[in-house]
Amino acid sequence: MLNFSRSRPQRPNRPNSLGGMDFVDPVKKSGLARKIIFATGLVALCIIIIKASPTFSSPSPFSLHETGTTHVLVTGGAGYIGSHAALRLLKDSYRVTIVDNLSRGNLGAIKVLQDLFPEHGRLQFIYADLGDPKAVNKIFSENAFDAVMHFAAVAYVGESTLDPLKYYHNITSNTLVVLEAMAAHNVNTLIYSSTCATYGEPEKMPITEETPQVPLDITQLTRMEKPRRWQKILSWIFHKNSDMAVMILRYFNVIGSDPDGRLGEAPRPELREHGRISAACFDAARGITKGLKVRGTDYKTVDGTCIRDYIDVTDLVDAHVKALRKAQPGEVGIYNVGTGQGRSVREFVEACKKATGVSMDVEYLPRRPGDYAEVYSNTSKILRELNWSAKYTDLENSLRVAWKWQKLHHNGYGVA
Ligand SMILES: NC(=O)c1ccc[n+]([C@@H]2O[C@H](COP(=O)([O-])OP(=O)(O)OC[C@H]3O[C@@H](n4cnc5c(N)ncnc54)[C@H](O)[C@@H]3O)[C@@H](O)[C@H]2O)c1
Repeated sequence: MLNFSRSRPQRPNRPNSLGGMDFVDPVKKSGLARKIIFATGLVALCIIIIKASPTFSSPSPFSLHETGTTHVLVTGGAGYIGSHAALRLLKDSYRVTIVDNLSRGNLGAIKVLQDLFPEHGRLQFIYADLGDPKAVNKIFSENAFDAVMHFAAVAYVGESTLDPLKYYHNITSNTLVVLEAMAAHNVNTLIYSSTCATYGEPEKMPITEETPQVPLDITQLTRMEKPRRWQKILSWIFHKNSDMAVMILRYFNVIGSDPDGRLGEAPRPELREHGRISAACFDAARGITKGLKVRGTDYKTVDGTCIRDYIDVTDLVDAHVKALRKAQPGEVGIYNVGTGQGRSVREFVEACKKATGVSMDVEYLPRRPGDYAEVYSNTSKILRELNWSAKYTDLENSLRVAWKWQKLHHNGYGVA
C-alpha cells in the first residue's frame, strides 16, 4: 500500500510494484515534469540572454583574427595625427584598437571616433602607457592585431631640449616595448611614424631617403637611431621571425585637419610655449597669445626665415595607409612624406593671416636652438613605390580647414 498525503485527492490504492516493475505515481510524475520543463526553460532563457549580450557572447571580435578584416593597433591614437589615422582606417573598414596614455592626447577625439563608428568590433580604446611592458604584453595577448601604426611619442622640439631624458625614454625604450610585444605575439607589420628632423641641416636639397642623418637635438638623435639601426634592432628582436614588414615614414611639419571638421589639433595649453607653428598661429588669431613670434630671420634663405615642407594631415594619413597596404614581409621600407616644396615661415604667417582673416602682430626674434635653415623632401621614391603624392598642397587652404575646427572648439575637444 502507498500512502498519499492528505492534501491530495483520494485515488484507488494500487500496488507499488507490479510484476517486478517499479510503479511511478502519475501525480508525482507530472510535478517532476513541470519542474524539468521550468528548469529547461530557465536555462534556455539564460542562454538567449547571454548570447544576446555583447559582453558575454562569443569572444570579443578584437581578440580574433578574421579573414578579410585587418585589425590595426594605433598607438597614440588620441593625439593629433593618430586620431586622424584612426579615422581614415575606420573609414576604410579596418578594425582599430587605440592605445594611449592621454598624456598629450584627447579623450574627446576618441569620443568623436566612437560616435562615428559605434558598431561592435570596429573601434576600441585602451588606456595604457607604452612604457609599461606588462600592460603592453597583456594588450597583445588579449587582442589579435594584424599590424601596428606607431604614433605614440612626446614630440615638441622646445620641450625636448628642456627634458631630454624623458624624450629619450619615451621615444626609444617605449618603441622597444612595442616591438618586443609584437615579436612575442606574432604581429608582423609595423608602420612607424618618424620624422625628417633626423636629417638635421642637409648639405644638399631636397632631402632624399639617402641623405645622411645629422641630428641637431635630442629628439632628432633619438629618431635617427631608429631608422639607422632599425634593421639591426629588428633582426635582433625578430631573429626568429623573418616575416616582419616595416615601413618607416619621415615627415616634417604637419598642418590641417579633417576636411569634414570632425577632428582637429588640440595640444595641451601648457605646451603652448613649445608649440608648433600652426597652433601658435591659431592661438595668436584667437587672441590667446599676444601675436606670433617668429624665431630667426637671418638664415640663408630667400626671406631670412626657415624653410619647411608642410604636409597636410589628410595626405599624411593617406601615406600611412598606402604604406600599410604595401608592407612586404621581410622588408624595411623608408619613405619621406612631403610636398616637395619648401615654404618660408614668413610665407606661412601670411597664409595664416589670410586663412584666419586676422591681422595678427608678428614679433621677429633671434634663432631658436635646434632649428635648421631649409628642409624639404624629394618625393620621387614614395611616388614610385607607394603611388603616393600630396594632394592638399595649398597652405592657405589647409590652414583654413584647420581654423574652421579651431573656431568651433575654443577649448579644444572640451568645446565651449
Ligand atoms: N605633428 C608634427 O608636426 C609631427 C612632425 C613629424 C613627426 N611627428 C611624429 O608623429 C607622431 C604623432 O605626433 P602628434 O603630432 O600626433 O603628437 P600628439 O602629442 O598629438 O600625439 C601623441 C600621442 O601619443 C600619446 N602618448 C605619448 N606617450 C605615450 C606613452 N608612453 N604611452 C601611450 N601613449 C602615449 C599622447 O597621449 C598623444 O595622444 C609623433 O611620433 C611625432 O614625433 C609629428
